[in-house]
Amino acid sequence: MFKKDFFWGTATASYQIEGAFNQDGRGLSVWDVFSRWPGKVRDGHNGDIACDHYNRYKEDVKLMKELGINAYRFSVSWSRVLPDGIGKVNEKGLDFYDRLVDELLKNNITPFMTLFHWDYPYELYRKGGWLNPDSPKWFLEYTKVLCDRLSDRVQYYMTLNEPQCFIGVGHKWGGHAPGLRLSDYDLLYAVHNTLLAHGESVKYIRENAKTKPHIGFAPCGIVAIPSTGNDVDAARRYMFDNSDIGRNAVWMDPVYLGKYPKEFGEQVGNLPKIDLDADLKTISQPLDFFGCNTYHGEIVTTDSSGNVITLRKPVGNTRTAINWHVTPEVLYWGPKLFYERYQKPVIMTENGMANCDTISFDGKCHDPQRIDYVHRHLLSLKKAAEEGVEVDGYFLWSLLDNFEWAEGYNERFGIIYVDYQTQKRTPKDSYYWYKSVIEANGENL
Ligand code: FCB
Repeated sequence: MFKKDFFWGTATASYQIEGAFNQDGRGLSVWDVFSRWPGKVRDGHNGDIACDHYNRYKEDVKLMKELGINAYRFSVSWSRVLPDGIGKVNEKGLDFYDRLVDELLKNNITPFMTLFHWDYPYELYRKGGWLNPDSPKWFLEYTKVLCDRLSDRVQYYMTLNEPQCFIGVGHKWGGHAPGLRLSDYDLLYAVHNTLLAHGESVKYIRENAKTKPHIGFAPCGIVAIPSTGNDVDAARRYMFDNSDIGRNAVWMDPVYLGKYPKEFGEQVGNLPKIDLDADLKTISQPLDFFGCNTYHGEIVTTDSSGNVITLRKPVGNTRTAINWHVTPEVLYWGPKLFYERYQKPVIMTENGMANCDTISFDGKCHDPQRIDYVHRHLLSLKKAAEEGVEVDGYFLWSLLDNFEWAEGYNERFGIIYVDYQTQKRTPKDSYYWYKSVIEANGENL
């Protein structure tokens, strides 16, 4: 059973839906620049127009209302609010979020605000971005602007979305903005500054919000599925026993447990000009919930020497349009093992499916695969809840088809189809299905 006041939501992110990239004084983000770098984004797509949500948010909130969600996760474009990342506030940009929040509340939808979902201000990147020792203070300055203006109405916050991706993919492997391939040494600073930014931000919101804040963050929840009942410990080890910045522990342990994984912590502790103990105090500000984004996972066991190994998926295992394996057990094992380790109520801040959607002759968009995907994942989540994991919410990615980063518009994740030529929105079958699940609080699953 899902609890009575369960948050049924959908999630989006600013760069992926807003468009209006040069409207009303918005500054550039690293994604504006990266998407103009030939070969980086499939088919040369960019977020200049996207879903034009900046100009159509009222229509989109109306669709949310009809869907029946009681929570909506969106992110703020930092460079729309502070075109240079710090300094002068762009009032028109800030006004947009003010109006969006009012529109949501008017429709009884609780705003879940993500402060940073990858669209880093280009002007701050030019100053060294996450490598700059002042970068946590820049994020604090940005937090202040949002908190001072919106915290009379916004109560749910997530500081950062998926640092594994914007640092790992963006700064180590170069596949996302800003497209860097930093050395492991530089990456230690980038990780540490990112976590400090999170901590400074939480501290400010906690001390200054005008209404009681509920704060978390939204890392990738990398999940392992035990191959058999004897492999649960292998799953734990896969998920937490490592210092890989693409996995969980480097990001979650300092935040929730106040310490880095051993080897990583030693390296950070040896960096010049770092006071590790003091910094970890800042980083581990108490949080109210455990948010994470999970789409798929690995199946694990141990070999004859006791090492954890991942197994190939069974031949013919279903994949989504973006080629990710469908492994619905992740929404059981993820919440279960995260809850066991971090002891915070779990909110799935993202989960959903890319599908080859089209508008059929009948003018509708039929996406039975997505219904099946979400159905199976929600059953897993429900099972975790029934076994005692405190589960507070589920945010389906995504409300609208949108700009899927390096994949451009080729992958459709929405439960509302977007015709990018006309901006016409067509709710898919999954939209109506999700509506019925929300109405029944998941009892009809
Ligand atoms: C997550 C991102 C989100 C979206 C989904 C499909 O990694 O947080 O913006 O692209 O994947």
